[in-house]
Amino acid sequence: MAKVSASILACDQTRIGEQVRAAEQGGADLLHVDVMDGVYVENLTFGPQMVRDLKKITKLPVSVHMELLMPERYLPMFARAGADILTFQLDACNNPIHFLKEIRKAGLKAGLGIGPAYGVENLRYLLHHIDWLILMSVEPGYGGQNFEASVFEKLRRTRELMAETGITVPISVDGGVNEETGRALVRAGADVLIAGSYIFGSGDIAGHVGNLKRL
Ligand code: DX5
Ligand code: ZN
Repeated sequence: MAKVSASILACDQTRIGEQVRAAEQGGADLLHVDVMDGVYVENLTFGPQMVRDLKKITKLPVSVHMELLMPERYLPMFARAGADILTFQLDACNNPIHFLKEIRKAGLKAGLGIGPAYGVENLRYLLHHIDWLILMSVEPGYGGQNFEASVFEKLRRTRELMAETGITVPISVDGGVNEETGRALVRAGADVLIAGSYIFGSGDIAGHVGNLKRL
């Protein structure tokens, strides 16, 4: 059984509070907040105030997924806002080891995101610095995109690297997760399913979280 992280990108932004509560009632384990800057990706989304406000209405850990350039700039803001996990994209950061250490020093879990166009081989040198890993199965930028099946090969290789190094970190998969892809991902060893459209684009938010949790 995998954990489920509900990506609020797919919420109706006028009803985020009630939709997040429905996801929590359905058994969601985490909330996933995509932060986009309009530069690293075309889209613009949420800022620290969203994290601060979510923390007031939910007990769930808030996992911030920065899809932006110069991620180092935003650590103090998201730490103050109460983020529990802070993830940045490996290809958006020049000194990832240094930054991962800074995130941990600030008392947050340090997360690393790897886009669908990039390999996982670098993890050999990074695993002992990270607490959280996001393998992306869509290009960063939008919800509702097609699932890139290359993530299965990366899941396998990541598990091998963890066995070789003896360091295990929970593996999340982000993008295009639904019942069908989710089932295959759990079988392939994903620990966390991050899903937006499948959960919030449905008429039954709690029920759809439950469907993923039962896989
Ligand atoms: C994509 C985001 C994902 C997105 C997933 O840039 O990182 O978290 O919300 O959305 P779905 O589940 O709709 O593919
Ligand atoms: Zn994301």
